[in-house]
Amino acid sequence: MSSQATPIPMSARKSGPLKGTAAVPGDKSISHRALIFGAMAVGETRISGLLEGEDVLDTAKAMQALGASVVRSGAGEWVVNGVGVGGFTEPENVIDCGNSGTGVRLIMGAVATYDFCTTFTGDGSLRKRPMARVTDPLALFGTRSVGRSGGRLPLTLIGAAEPVPVEYETPVPSAQVKSAVLLAGLNAPGQTVVIEKEMTRDHTERMLKGFGAEITTETTPEGYHKITLTGRPELTPQEVAVPRDPSSAAFPVCAALIIEGSDIIVPGVSQNSTRNGLYTTLVEMGAQIEFQNEREEGGEPVADLRVRASKLKGIEVPPERAASMIDEYPILSVVAAYAEGTTVMRGVKELRVKESDRIDAMARGLEACGVQIEEDEDTLIVHGLGPNGVKGGATCVTHLDHRIAMSFLILGMASQEPVAVDDGAPIATSFPIFENLMTGLGADVTRDN
Ligand code: S3P
Repeated sequence: MSSQATPIPMSARKSGPLKGTAAVPGDKSISHRALIFGAMAVGETRISGLLEGEDVLDTAKAMQALGASVVRSGAGEWVVNGVGVGGFTEPENVIDCGNSGTGVRLIMGAVATYDFCTTFTGDGSLRKRPMARVTDPLALFGTRSVGRSGGRLPLTLIGAAEPVPVEYETPVPSAQVKSAVLLAGLNAPGQTVVIEKEMTRDHTERMLKGFGAEITTETTPEGYHKITLTGRPELTPQEVAVPRDPSSAAFPVCAALIIEGSDIIVPGVSQNSTRNGLYTTLVEMGAQIEFQNEREEGGEPVADLRVRASKLKGIEVPPERAASMIDEYPILSVVAAYAEGTTVMRGVKELRVKESDRIDAMARGLEACGVQIEEDEDTLIVHGLGPNGVKGGATCVTHLDHRIAMSFLILGMASQEPVAVDDGAPIATSFPIFENLMTGLGADVTRDN
């Protein structure tokens, strides 16, 4: 999102029942990667189902700035003419990644092993987020960086002229850090190795294999996930069909669960085990979700979900599940508010460094709407009020965070009084059709200016 974007106040009122089909847009993580790997392949990659949200469009612009041709040929259809590994050229201007942590961190990795300089910036949210988690491992390749205090954007990377391969154990569970190191390893000689204690989303590994890189994954005797990539491959262009985004699907799914009488279909939701922790959790809470037509789409296991309004109970979410549902805790905390009993979410401190401090943002907004919560650095606990138990009647602050904005609007679709958000503009970063899609299902959500 550009830092000049005008805020869009929005609100939602008691809605429903929700009925119909919720066809959510393409997966954000896979869309970024399809553009980046397409730009690093030799020749023409065709992408269908690309998420045309602001985050991904910023990555498309960045690939153009690095010398690739990126052209839209239809709705969600894009053609990338890549320059090959080693073929990027120094960008003439600052790369603005808007709101996107994934965009900036992956592209930092992609340019880290080139003998040129790249300066990155972003919007007010991205400029607050920690980048040392990426620049530290990139320094092992020989890359230098100069940023603001705490390694924050704007930041300039001076790429390694003679990169060396790296072995790196990620100190935090982060697919962005893992991917940045692998992307840097593409233009380094020899083998680059990443070890993660807890496995995070594996789209980079899957897609690199698809583009023809030599990459292996194994489980170490300690149970860690080890990835070995051979540098300087020739990547071959692909046809990439982007599956729908399970993190976006979470919003209509959770809305249907808490709005009385709802019965919807959400087609093509990823069942990739590195992404589906929310769905496992919802079923444990008593959600009526049927997983129909299980199949493969764009190299990912997917299913059509039939979701009906359900009587839910609070549960303890296992901390080891956090990586597979890290973006879904805000909407889970909304569902928890409508469950009977307490939902305990531990091991979630990574939420504090997302587009906003999501523990704080959810805690403050839920409290303002009459929900009792407890929190510490690594934990969020929500005391459920049961169906019809949430008062609402507050304006929640979204801190330039799309998932916080969507979560509070869903809260308002089942609360006694309407719930407003100060700014729904960031929703366009990941789910530009959110408002139309939810209205089409029967939700009462409006813009208020
Ligand atoms: C993403 C990884 C996650 C997630 C983000 C997308 C990715 O971030 O929160 O929305 O596409 O690699 P971290 O790597 O910081 O956990």
